[in-house]
Amino acid sequence: MRTKTGGASAARGQSIQVDVHVRPGDALRALREEALAGLCGRPKELSPKWLYDERGSQLFDDITRLPEYYPTRREREILEQRAGEIARLSGADTLIELGSGTSEKTRLLLDAFLKEGRLRRFIPFDVSEAFLRSAAERLAREYPALRVHAVVGDFERHLGQLPRGGRRLVAFLGGTIGNFKPEQRARFFQEVAEGLAPGDGLLLGTDLLKSRERLFHAYNDGAGVTAEFNRNVLRVLNRELGADFDLEAFEHLAPFDEEHGWIEMRLISRRAQVVRLRSLERSVHFEQGEALRTEVSCKFRPEQVEAELAGAGLHLAAWWTDRAEDFALSLSLKR
Ligand code: SAH
Ligand code: TRP
Repeated sequence: MRTKTGGASAARGQSIQVDVHVRPGDALRALREEALAGLCGRPKELSPKWLYDERGSQLFDDITRLPEYYPTRREREILEQRAGEIARLSGADTLIELGSGTSEKTRLLLDAFLKEGRLRRFIPFDVSEAFLRSAAERLAREYPALRVHAVVGDFERHLGQLPRGGRRLVAFLGGTIGNFKPEQRARFFQEVAEGLAPGDGLLLGTDLLKSRERLFHAYNDGAGVTAEFNRNVLRVLNRELGADFDLEAFEHLAPFDEEHGWIEMRLISRRAQVVRLRSLERSVHFEQGEALRTEVSCKFRPEQVEAELAGAGLHLAAWWTDRAEDFALSLSLKR
């Protein structure tokens, strides 16, 4: 399943290769199945990947600039301090980024790796095809010395199809690891580790436990951008499944769940209502106050991250935090 994209738009004869493992038809089939199971069950729940259509990806990018949303700034602070060290410790010639989005912070890594002189390839991997293609083309123009090989895939299904070869570092930034539930997370670490050779590494961004107050505001911002991002999933359902969700009839709420140690992103039905899913020939009933869960975002303790990585055969080589100790970046190596 691959298409080679000629680099007409990339400068200096650079061409980017794009492998596509998620075709629009497959994605639609998966969404139909998930919507049936997730909207008709109880509690109602959808996988977070449906949040990231083009508009959702753009809205997430807006979130990263909100004053209350500290994770992006904290992770960038760590990368500014440590990118050189990361490049030396890893020695990779291939940098793979999972859930790459715009790869904005990743440029700090690319610059540091290129300075070390070994990096040859950058492999951004994301489920959001249009967004990934334009990000990859921009990167190819900015980094003519790099081969940019983009992969459109689902990191819960297609890790086995990442390009092989070379000394590799897999970066998984932004605290996106927190969007997995614990069992999914264990499976993910296992699969990443299985794909690595001894000496290859994982660079992982994890958001740390902190005051409930700050966590709450990071996911319930004053300008309502996170609310817009969350409600966007209803637009996706309206467009893809011919549904008739009234976006105004749902309220965004992202409380911290003490028991699980995660922020839980919910859409709360403001009233009792019935929503039609035309292309599934189904109706879904919402009670007043009933929640649809669209994402969780786990917050971690350092020992927990180290133990989970070690459980998958990934051994901590370095652990860095920002000055405020809000966020951590870890480098672990496969033995
Ligand atoms: N790494 C960026 C973006 C984080 S947002 C940062 O640190 O700011 C999460 C990213 O993961 C989005 O780009 C989204 O499209 C992607 N994503 C979400 N679910 C995915 C899945 N199942 N497979 C692959 N990518 C996914
Ligand atoms: N990966 C981001 C995070 O966990 C995604 C995100 C942004 C998010 N806003 C959110 C997840 C609100 C849950 C709730 O921080």
